[in-house]
Amino acid sequence: MAWTLAAAGFALVYWFVWVMGAAEVQGKRAVDLQMGSIADDKVGDRYSQYWSFFRSPKETAAAATADKVNRARSHNRKAGLDAQCEVVCGNFMAMPFPDASFDGAYSIEATCHAPRLQDVYGEVFRVLKPGGLYVSYEWVTTPLYRADDPEHVEAIHGIERGDALPGLRRQDEIAAVAKEVGFEVVKELDLALPPALPWWTRLKMGRLSYWRNSLVIRALTLLRVAPKGVSEVHEMLYETAHHLTRGGETGIFTPMHMVLLRKPATAAEHSSCS
Ligand SMILES: C[S@@+](CC[C@H](N)C(=O)[O-])C[C@H]1O[C@@H](n2cnc3c(N)ncnc32)[C@H](O)[C@@H]1O
Repeated sequence: MAWTLAAAGFALVYWFVWVMGAAEVQGKRAVDLQMGSIADDKVGDRYSQYWSFFRSPKETAAAATADKVNRARSHNRKAGLDAQCEVVCGNFMAMPFPDASFDGAYSIEATCHAPRLQDVYGEVFRVLKPGGLYVSYEWVTTPLYRADDPEHVEAIHGIERGDALPGLRRQDEIAAVAKEVGFEVVKELDLALPPALPWWTRLKMGRLSYWRNSLVIRALTLLRVAPKGVSEVHEMLYETAHHLTRGGETGIFTPMHMVLLRKPATAAEHSSCS
């Protein structure tokens, strides 16, 4: 009985990861994961969705932020960076750091969650030393977005809903907010534009993959391996991926509007920038 179950489990995993995965993403992702056991070092970044799928949910009782801090510390330890990088739990709109305590700061696709960009940019400005640099990737709508086009509105609202955003900002608002809090804008660039390859292709999921994942998730929920509600989350993520893809394909949305900002070195410089 145990052997039959083990064989069935192996066949399911094999089918799920190698056969179906490879069939869907032929030539793109399958090359990364070659035959062998599913071990952390074999699962590259591109396969993190499979890896997290198999991960035990035993950490879910802990607060999400504490869990993230522990995970970040563990990644740092593995990379040998724990002596150089400390992870602190906090709110980026009220950072637990004294004024002028950092030479540099960065944020990647995170500040879009701030209800007011001024609040987070203002905090970054406060904790930076004079002359310090801050680089950020912002999620924004581009000038191609038209509020009178129902397809555009549906895609943008879908992104906001699925990613729990307070509302996407316009691309031209970012530099204005940065200047408002005192930053000098060194550079602004949409890194999603060509020659960058389309970022959304990874999110595209065929109906076959959707049904495969849906079936496996339902079966695992039934067997109580996956917690209740995973099916609904899967559905929501599928829809959000579709909206993000539409945002990318139509060019009305970018998740990679990069701004490089500098805190003026002197008060005189500060007043001449603002
Ligand atoms: C889309 S994720 C990006 C994470 C990471 N930078 C990356 O590129 O993988 C957005 C992150 O912003 C964090 N976040 C949202 N609001 C925050 C706040 N007020 N203070 C600190 N972090 C926040 C979330 O916890 C989440 O980890």
